[in-house]
Amino acid sequence: MRITMIGSGYVGLVSGACFADFGHTVTCVDKDAGKIEALRNGVMPIFEPGLDDLVESNVAEQRLSFTTDLSEAIQDAEAVFIAVGTPSRRGDGHADLSYVYAAAKEIAELSAGPLVVVTKSTVPVGTGDEVERILRETRPDGTYYVVSNPEFLREGAAIGDFKRPDRIVIGTDDAHAREVMSELYRPLSLNTPPLMFTGRRTSELIKYAANAFLAVKITFINEIADLCEAVGADVQEVARGIGSDNRIGSKFLNAGPGYGGSCFPKDTTALVKTGQDAAVPLRIVETVVAVNDQRKRGMARKVVTACGGSVRGKTIAVLGLTFKPNTDDMRDAPSLALITALQDQGAAVRAYDPEGVEQAKGMLRDVEYAPNAYDCVEGADALVIVTEWDAFRALDLSRVKRLLKEPVVVDLRNIYRADDMKRRGFNYVGIGRP
Ligand code: UDX
Repeated sequence: MRITMIGSGYVGLVSGACFADFGHTVTCVDKDAGKIEALRNGVMPIFEPGLDDLVESNVAEQRLSFTTDLSEAIQDAEAVFIAVGTPSRRGDGHADLSYVYAAAKEIAELSAGPLVVVTKSTVPVGTGDEVERILRETRPDGTYYVVSNPEFLREGAAIGDFKRPDRIVIGTDDAHAREVMSELYRPLSLNTPPLMFTGRRTSELIKYAANAFLAVKITFINEIADLCEAVGADVQEVARGIGSDNRIGSKFLNAGPGYGGSCFPKDTTALVKTGQDAAVPLRIVETVVAVNDQRKRGMARKVVTACGGSVRGKTIAVLGLTFKPNTDDMRDAPSLALITALQDQGAAVRAYDPEGVEQAKGMLRDVEYAPNAYDCVEGADALVIVTEWDAFRALDLSRVKRLLKEPVVVDLRNIYRADDMKRRGFNYVGIGRP
C-alpha cells in the first residue's frame, strides 16, 4: 500500500520506517527542510537504537522516501497518517492541536480522496470529530475516513514495540477504513491477533488512560518506596512480592526519581483537563501529577542529607541526564529539577550522559560536562545516579571510589546492591531500601 506520513519526528519516523519494512511504500513528510535533507543523507534527527539501519535498508529498497512536499507525497496514497506534535499548550495544560488541525486542512486542500486519514498523534477525545469536520469544510466533495490509531512506543525500544505490540488499537466504525487498516498491519496479524477495533472516541481515550495508568503505577511504587525508607522495608522486594500477582503485574514497579519524558507528564496533564472539561474530575490522576512534580524537586533533599546536611561549595557528580536510558530526550527529565535545586543550594554540578548532553546544554545553566563517567566523578563530593544507563551499572566501582573525594553515592535508580556498596566502603543511599 502507499502511505504518507505527515510529521517526521519520533512517532512519524519510527512508524514510517516500520511500515516500509512491512513492505508498504511510505513517504515521510516534514516542513523542516533541514531535517528532510539530513534524513535523505541517512542522518537521524533522534537517537533511537536500530532506526538508522532500518531507514537505510528501506530507502535502499525504495520503499521509504522523505520530502517537504505534501502535494506530491499524497497523490497516490491510500492512507495518510498525521504524526505531528501535540505539545502542552502554555498556560492551561491542554494539548495544543494546532499542528494536527493544520495538517487536516492541508490534506483536504491537496486531495479529494478517497483517503483514510489516520491520527497517530496523541490527541484528546473528540479530536477525530474535529479533523473530520475540517476535512469536510475544506473540501465538501472529498471522501475521507478518519481513524484513530494511537501509538504505544517507548523511546529506546520503539522499533520492537511497533513490530511486536501487545495490541494495535484502531478507532473507526467504517468498514472500508477497517479493511485498509487491517491490510496495513497484516504482517503483524499473521502471528497474533493484536488488532483491536473500537469506536474513535474510545480509541482516543485508550491512549490517555494507558499512559495515566502507568503513571499511577510508577507513582504508587514511589510512595511505597518512601514508606519503605521510613519503616525499614525494601521496595524492590515489595515490588517483586506484589508484581508476581498477575492481576498487578511486575512491570513499571521500579521506584525512582519520578517519571519524565515527552509523554507521561504531558498526557496526564491533558487527561486531567479533559476530565475537568467533562465535569468528571479525575482525582487520582490529578494527585499523581502533583506527587510526581513534587518528587522530582524533592530528590535534591536526598543528596543534601547524604552530603551531611549541606551541598554548599561542594561538587556533585551527576551520571545520567536523559529521562531514561537509550534516548537523548531531556524533556521533563528528573535531572533538570534535581540539578537546578542542587545549584540553588550552592553546589557545583558536573555531569555526564552518553547521549543527552547536547539537549541538556540548552536546558541547564552552569553545568560542567565531563567526557566520560570517570572524569565526571573525579574529585567530587558525591556521585548521584539519575538515569540507569547500562554503562553505569558496569562501572569499575573501585576506581570510582578512588576518584571521588568523598565516597558518597546516591543511587536514584537502585542500580547497585546496597550490601556490596557498603562492603566497598561507600556511604550509599538508594531508593526505598533500608
Ligand atoms: C511512554 C509509554 O510507555 C509508551 O507506551 C507511550 O507511547 C509513550 O510514553 P516513554 O515515555 O518512552 O513511553 O518511556 P517509559 O519507558 O514508559 O518511561 C517513562 C518514565 O517513567 C521514565 O522517566 C522512566 O524512568 C519512568 N519509569 C518507568 C519509572 O520511574 N519506573 C518504572 O518502573 C518505569
